[in-house]
Amino acid sequence: MKLLIAGGAGYLGSALIPQLLDRGYRVDVVDLFWFGNNLPDETGIVNKDIFDLTVPDLEGYDQVIFLGGLSNDPMADYSPAKNFIYNAAAPAYLAYIAKKAHVRRYIYASSCSVYGYTENELYDETRPVSSVFPYGISKLQGEQAVMNLADESFSVIALRKGTASGFSPRMRLDLIVNTMFKCAVSNNEIVINNSSVWRPIISIEDAVAAYVRTIEASESISGIFNVASGNYTVGEVADQVKIEVQEQLGARVKLKIKHIKDIRNYKVSCDKARNVLSFHPHHCVRSIVRNLIAQMDKFSDWENPLYYNILTFQMLEEDSVRPEPLGRVAIAK
Ligand SMILES: NC(=O)c1ccc[n+]([C@@H]2O[C@H](COP(=O)([O-])OP(=O)(O)OC[C@H]3O[C@@H](n4cnc5c(N)ncnc54)[C@H](O)[C@@H]3O)[C@@H](O)[C@H]2O)c1
Repeated sequence: MKLLIAGGAGYLGSALIPQLLDRGYRVDVVDLFWFGNNLPDETGIVNKDIFDLTVPDLEGYDQVIFLGGLSNDPMADYSPAKNFIYNAAAPAYLAYIAKKAHVRRYIYASSCSVYGYTENELYDETRPVSSVFPYGISKLQGEQAVMNLADESFSVIALRKGTASGFSPRMRLDLIVNTMFKCAVSNNEIVINNSSVWRPIISIEDAVAAYVRTIEASESISGIFNVASGNYTVGEVADQVKIEVQEQLGARVKLKIKHIKDIRNYKVSCDKARNVLSFHPHHCVRSIVRNLIAQMDKFSDWENPLYYNILTFQMLEEDSVRPEPLGRVAIAK
């Protein structure tokens, strides 16, 4: 089977693609490589913006997977316009041309952030969504656009992932467990903005498994699926990170609890993914931390801007060559 993965050079794709190659898939990646290239040599590379792809470029692929866009709130808040273009319009355009090219399945990287602020009930995929911030709105717009294209010849699956964490060859230290781990190890202190809000967490290994299960699911399946390893309050995540770091590394870690209002609070049911996709998560916060400790020498240059999406994105935006505004063009007399 031949797969095209848009945004495949990112955190998730860089962990997923080695597994897909091991399973015998042919994998091409189209990406702008904002965070470099950590992909295996066997990966086909297309260094392009998704919007520069046309229908002939997608012919011959069995499945197309969207992992691109601005992948967190700080990036979305920094550039709301790009957020809506890359998170809402790009997946819609890619699904549209994929269907025209007779691709059989489209997989969309959605997010549990579409649920917004909920009242501490377990949410399944039938519950209302209510994001009021740019990232969450745009992920929902992308999801709605691609789901509209599903029919008997074009399977569309949206995976609403919890916040991913763990080690990837393209490392991120701006994800909840990874950030707390870094702070615990490098500063012996974890700062918690709001310890009572709920977050579904997914280990990178469970996230990769969710994509593998989806790629290999019967083509008759389309739909939206929550995927997470577990639901935790942010305070509980911090406690688990602290315990594991203390036990494994012998450090003494302090917690600093703040009481800042949060715009996101949700916990999700993954029953549908379990029953329909055979998605069975195996990880918890403590096993994520154990795996981070095992790979720590690969990312302990803690302040590398590539590990923080917003820092790299800001640098790219500020360095980009923009046309001179017309008003500043000197006119020869
Ligand atoms: N990481 C998480 O916790 C999480 C949780 C839920 C959903 N998601 C979604 O999963 C996807 C993957 O997340 P990630 O953490 O791997 O992201 P990432 O930021 O590590 O990678 C995104 C990749 O997309 C590429 N890209 C962005 N716009 C592009 C475009 N127009 N054309 C070509 N390439 C483009 C970037 O160069 C980058 O390599 C994203 O869509 C994100 O919104 C992530």
